Amino acid sequence: MEKFVIIGGNRLSGTIRVSGGKNSVLTILPACLLSGGVCTLHDVPKLSDVYVMKNVLESLGAKVDFTGNTMVVDATSVSNVELPDRLTRMMRASNLVMGPLLARFQYVKMAYPGGCSIGSRPMDQHLRGMKTLGAEIKEKHGFIEAKATRLVGSEICLDFPSVGATENILLAATLAEGVTVIRNAAREPEVVDLQNFLNQMGAKIKGAGTDVIRIEGVKKLNSVEYTIIPDRIEAGTFMVMGAITGGEILINNVIPEHIEAVISKLREAGVEINETDEGILVRGGKKRQGVDVKTMPFPGFPTDMQAQMMALMAVSEGTSIVTETIFENRFKHVDELRRMGADIKVEGRVAIIKGVKSLSGAYVETSDLRAGAALVTAGLVADGATVLDKVHLIDRGYENFEQKLRGLGAQILRVNGNGGKDKH
Ligand code: EPZ
Repeated sequence: MEKFVIIGGNRLSGTIRVSGGKNSVLTILPACLLSGGVCTLHDVPKLSDVYVMKNVLESLGAKVDFTGNTMVVDATSVSNVELPDRLTRMMRASNLVMGPLLARFQYVKMAYPGGCSIGSRPMDQHLRGMKTLGAEIKEKHGFIEAKATRLVGSEICLDFPSVGATENILLAATLAEGVTVIRNAAREPEVVDLQNFLNQMGAKIKGAGTDVIRIEGVKKLNSVEYTIIPDRIEAGTFMVMGAITGGEILINNVIPEHIEAVISKLREAGVEINETDEGILVRGGKKRQGVDVKTMPFPGFPTDMQAQMMALMAVSEGTSIVTETIFENRFKHVDELRRMGADIKVEGRVAIIKGVKSLSGAYVETSDLRAGAALVTAGLVADGATVLDKVHLIDRGYENFEQKLRGLGAQILRVNGNGGKDKH
């Protein structure tokens, strides 16, 4: 497996352009199935998860061209409504084709997407929503089969503001008969991006970004050309890297409102952050103070930034308490940070971090893409070399990661499994 070798100690400085948002494109690509035509998407990041979603759409009969950062999806000849289980197991977000296939073909069959290292990730809220819209759901032998003579608009109140469930129900409701109202909806910017994309296709949706979304079903949706919003988690990750190395990074192509909770937390920790016309300027400056972090649904502190923040707290002054409220198993990076000398104790969903003077490079493994980003963050300031294994998990969500870091002055190299320098 490919590894990163990182030599710590360099301050990061310079400018980076954030790529298009992974979690936005992973819901907008399934939305392309709703049009009977061709949709063109710009600023699509070259990520392994995006290639998996491309394969999912192609397995359904769509024709997809991905050149540079532009993806053209021709959904005219989509006819298959059964998803190969190897794809649904590879990436949970593949379950987002359920809403569009039910809406367009009134049928879909797929294997349960696998859980992953951060939690079991059930789909009960998704299925509850589909049932409320009139679908009949059968779950057996690890497969979900959903069918409906027609989808009828209805009122749905989610038990939890699930991002995926909000998106799936929104997708299904666009072509349903009548009005659907989703209450306790997720308010993430990716849900707003999806609403904007669908409305450009001719949907009639209001309220994304709030906890009540109203969808008036329409007969048909058209082809559109659209640009994906920037990746707020990539932006936040580079902000933490600028802070931890005491450097100065200008992050452009970022929407500050999408990352306010992280900006506010970093400022509380003593990091200088200025929102300028060119982008967000981060100055790491002096030692940071430990702060308490509690992950919450948007606009609260994002769970996808929890691991990266913990790396920063590991070398900040004082004690920090990190509480993970979204996923039940998202502290796997703690053991690896400990190998590097971090002082962290975990009690259930709470981690107590006592800042240490310095970390030391070590051989570490990542369990998910954000844990991987956190270990790279720690490696940037650790004494000596850090070898990070399983970097293919980082490639799921960070485009040209090591190239962007080298451009900021980091000493990081991708080596292939047997230690040779990779061709990248
Ligand atoms: C999306 O996952 C993101 N993925 C995740 O990003 C992100 O961490 C998560 O939202 C929370 O913000 C994409 O958008 C592709 P949820 P999603 O449904 O939709 C439970 C990353 O690193 N739940 O809001 O799967 C679930 O188990 C990834 O980029 C149910 O119990 O998240 C979890 O504990 C990781 N039943 C919590 O809700 C359901 O039916 C949040 O899940 C659905 C969810």
